[in-house]
Amino acid sequence: MLVHIAALLSHEEAAALRGRLSLAPWADGGVTAGHQSGQVKANLQIGSDSTEGRELGLIVVRALEQSPAFLSAALPRHVFPPLFNRYDMGMNFGSHIDNAVRQVPGTAQRMRTDLSATLFLSDPDDYDGGELVVQDNYGSHSLKPGAGDLVLYPARSLHRVEPVTRGNRLAAFFWIQSMVKSGDHRDMLYDLDQSIQTLTQSGGDNDSILRLSGLYHNLLREWGEV
Ligand code: NI
Repeated sequence: MLVHIAALLSHEEAAALRGRLSLAPWADGGVTAGHQSGQVKANLQIGSDSTEGRELGLIVVRALEQSPAFLSAALPRHVFPPLFNRYDMGMNFGSHIDNAVRQVPGTAQRMRTDLSATLFLSDPDDYDGGELVVQDNYGSHSLKPGAGDLVLYPARSLHRVEPVTRGNRLAAFFWIQSMVKSGDHRDMLYDLDQSIQTLTQSGGDNDSILRLSGLYHNLLREWGEV
């Protein structure tokens, strides 16, 4: 399931990150690409190997930890330290699938990438092109949301970033290993959780909400790894 979380960061927070990124040390994005994706990738990147990149990544992680929508959709077990990328005019990232396993930089820890995430930082009016296009069983989805919006999609999806033809496009990107490995199970838990939230807010029958919440946790116990 493709999940769009609006305003993970406010417009002011996104603008503050853009300001700091404008002064940060950008390098060729090929460094984190796999063999196939390295051949189709043309962008610039900042990673957690610089102090600035690490600090900015922590701002993103803190926002994720405080987002009920992110926690519900991803059920995160490990979050890869966010990286940042920039596409200037003419840059793009052709179709690829992200690597299944990544080593967390500076550690011996490896993680499985269940979900891929893009946090859009540029205002869509400030650049042309640069859409994130994700393909799934139901077709192709073209995404260009507002600054501060997060898009989560199954890491098994073929995806690309269209060429930027005006301005530049800044984003944070990272991966999540979920407590629930199966995308189907994760989608069902997300549906159930969202329905429980809606029922709770609309003053639904308490006993039913209690039983549905119990069902949610018992399914998570069945399917989750911690
Ligand atoms: Ni990718």
